Amino acid sequence: MTKQTISVQLSTAKKQKPEADKLEFGRTFTDHMFIMDYTAENGWHDPRIVPYQPIEMDPAAMVYHYGQSVFEGLKAYLSSEGRVLLFRPEKNFERLNKSNDRLCIPRVDPEIVLEGLKQLVQIDKEWIPQAEGTSLYIRPFIISTEPYLGVAPSNMYKMLIILSPVGSYYKEGIRPVKIAVESEFVRAVAGGTGNAKTAGNYAASLKAQEVAESKGFSQVLWLDGVEKKYIEEVGSMNIFFKISGEIVTPALNGSILEGITRNSVIHLLKQWGLSVTERKISVDELVQAHKDGLLEEAFGTGTAAVISPVGELIWKDESLVINNGQTGEIAKRLYQTITGIQKGALPDTFGWTVEVDKVSQSC
Ligand code: COI
Repeated sequence: MTKQTISVQLSTAKKQKPEADKLEFGRTFTDHMFIMDYTAENGWHDPRIVPYQPIEMDPAAMVYHYGQSVFEGLKAYLSSEGRVLLFRPEKNFERLNKSNDRLCIPRVDPEIVLEGLKQLVQIDKEWIPQAEGTSLYIRPFIISTEPYLGVAPSNMYKMLIILSPVGSYYKEGIRPVKIAVESEFVRAVAGGTGNAKTAGNYAASLKAQEVAESKGFSQVLWLDGVEKKYIEEVGSMNIFFKISGEIVTPALNGSILEGITRNSVIHLLKQWGLSVTERKISVDELVQAHKDGLLEEAFGTGTAAVISPVGELIWKDESLVINNGQTGEIAKRLYQTITGIQKGALPDTFGWTVEVDKVSQSC
């Protein structure tokens, strides 16, 4: 892609901003959005920031039929000194391109989309909420738009970035949740699309989630799709356990999403001198560790919730209450540290935050 200018058309009608204590996750959107197009002849072109608006699409657009789409999620925070901070945004665009490869979508230039993202956040920075537990959620995504009913990679795409001021993702916030170990449905299999951030994985997870909720659980713990024996993810997050002093998380195996929060947690735990291992973890090992009094903590990690402690696991008819159903020390420390770095309140020793400042009009 040659260097391109990002054009900007500002909105003339500003929307009403939601009150900080009424913020939900992903229901309100800001005044502007980023959009760019792809055609086989011109590649990715015409990056622009425009007023937030519906997009018109042909009913035959391929995304409606075959689901060729990928997305990302990251957050912007306003520090107490008024600095606008992003958290490891380059990792999101690296992962977006890996998802693109898996879904046969043409790669984007990470430089131009990061520049577009920074300009968009700068323009809508008054939408960044400041109350505890709130942030501006950023959703970059790509959809296939060619009107064609043949099963093939599309020749036309749109990439958009939309922004949403959010409160906590789970109504429980950082309070421990009750999770059902899922023994019927699977989320993904190695060789499938489990390690890509694509819409179909989330569609495939809905049935299990619906059944779990109807039985009073918050989410499900996913097992591998072949033996239904090894732990993969929790809800739409990665999962960590502390067993007998060792922190463990399922090793990336092709069906697990490579979480950016997961990666950050591993770096922090190592920096704190704690033992952390990426390996296979069977549900039998967890049950045994619980029986032996060695299952000390469990928590999910993801961009939306950051850290979500697990207070109880239900496997068949057995209940595994973890840490007396309380948030563990590691989960608490990780939540405070990661959100502290994200908000610029704690030293950023890894250089993870990126400040949205000196916005240029081209790159
Ligand atoms: C995350 O935890 O960041 C997720 O992937 C959830 C998102 C799909 C809302």
